[in-house]
Amino acid sequence: MTEPGRLRLSLGGVLAPPLKKHAGLSRPEIETALRRIARRAPHLFGTGQAADAPAFIQAPWRSKELAEVTRTAQRLRRSTDDVIQVGIGGSSLAAQTLMGALAHPLHNQLPKQSRKGPRVHFADNADPETLGALLDCINPKRTLLHLVSKTGETLETNAVFRVLRQTLGRDWRQRCVITTGAGALRAFAKAEGVPLLLNFPENLGGRWSALSASGLFVPALAGVPVTGVISGARRLLRRNAAGAKLRNPAALAAATAFLLDTRRGKSIQVLMPYADALEALTRWYVQLAAESLGKLRRRGGLKREHLGPTPLPARGSSDQHAQLQLFIEGPADKLLMFVALRRSRTHLTIPGGRPAGDPSAGQTLGRVLRVSQQATALALAQAGRPSLTFELPSISPAMLGELLLTLQLMTAGQAALYGVNPFDQPGVEAGKEMARALLGHGALRSPPRARAPRWRVG
Ligand code: PA5
Repeated sequence: MTEPGRLRLSLGGVLAPPLKKHAGLSRPEIETALRRIARRAPHLFGTGQAADAPAFIQAPWRSKELAEVTRTAQRLRRSTDDVIQVGIGGSSLAAQTLMGALAHPLHNQLPKQSRKGPRVHFADNADPETLGALLDCINPKRTLLHLVSKTGETLETNAVFRVLRQTLGRDWRQRCVITTGAGALRAFAKAEGVPLLLNFPENLGGRWSALSASGLFVPALAGVPVTGVISGARRLLRRNAAGAKLRNPAALAAATAFLLDTRRGKSIQVLMPYADALEALTRWYVQLAAESLGKLRRRGGLKREHLGPTPLPARGSSDQHAQLQLFIEGPADKLLMFVALRRSRTHLTIPGGRPAGDPSAGQTLGRVLRVSQQATALALAQAGRPSLTFELPSISPAMLGELLLTLQLMTAGQAALYGVNPFDQPGVEAGKEMARALLGHGALRSPPRARAPRWRVG
């Protein structure tokens, strides 16, 4: 874990010592959890090229489909002024993450000649105000829709798509790329003669689809070098083949987070990158961890266990001035997971001069941000609160590939330890079914036992 140019995991802030025995973890505890991951999920820590590997680690090796993504993006770039990704949850957040991290931070505000591709919008909610505002700003003749839905059955996605399809008018088929699985939406697209279809691999759930067309197409269209993201993911997978060992950051983070939750009461995982460019990553991770790990486990058909950590997003250093007080002195139920950069992509030196005595004078802003993260980790340690740090050399396409996959492997590793299936989401499905029924479509498989009380005040 010491080579330069790679993602590293720093675990100093979770061990006892420096933390007290009841608060920190010991090496033997961690090693036992790692052995358990290796036993329970033997296919997780490999290169992803074996036929029985989980679909999300096979995704970066689906070369033909990935080439189709970049080819389609290249073909449509010139004729598109605005692209709207229509999709929700896992079918939107990865593309938002890659845009946030790898496109110009003010991509949509740049003049056309300074941008590498069209303006990018995410229609990931059925909120009429947001969608209405977007419709005020686009030219339908030069707008492309990227409809992403694995199932093709998501109420909000379908509703938003219908509105946008009407806005685009009769030519919508030529101005639409559909990424979907083998279900009803693909059949519809074929029947309608939509020429541009990308594949949503059958065994890959939304939140696990970051490194496929669902996450990559829009960033590719906007000029993000997504092949670099894939190279980073492949590089990580080659190292991942060494197994669930102490030297594997994803396995180690999984073991640590699980032990801190189940043995030390740290049930809240705060993901706190010190980089504005990684803010969308926190929303992506929250969805990944919440849907994959928040599960009801039935033991022997009788005992019901409600499992899973609660993921929470934060942003350094701004949230030092918002949430840190809670993290240091509030309930001792949190693990802080920092993402820190060794180097920022932009260098801004802080001028000296009056007033004198400002410790930031003459430093770079990047150093101020780094020092803020280190100071927060130290303040937490002093208060006996655990933290770990994912250290990146800097933000780059390859590093994003490593980071996304590391967090996915960490999540799947935790699932192995909790003994839950990270690839299903029965709770989400129940909500989808309920919404369809409330709109008068379809019967509920399991009707609610009690009517909601009709209490209204004010
Ligand atoms: O991660 C998941 O599985 C979910 O968040 C789905 O992505 C989300 O519900 C949208 O589903 P679909 O892609 O089928 O429209």
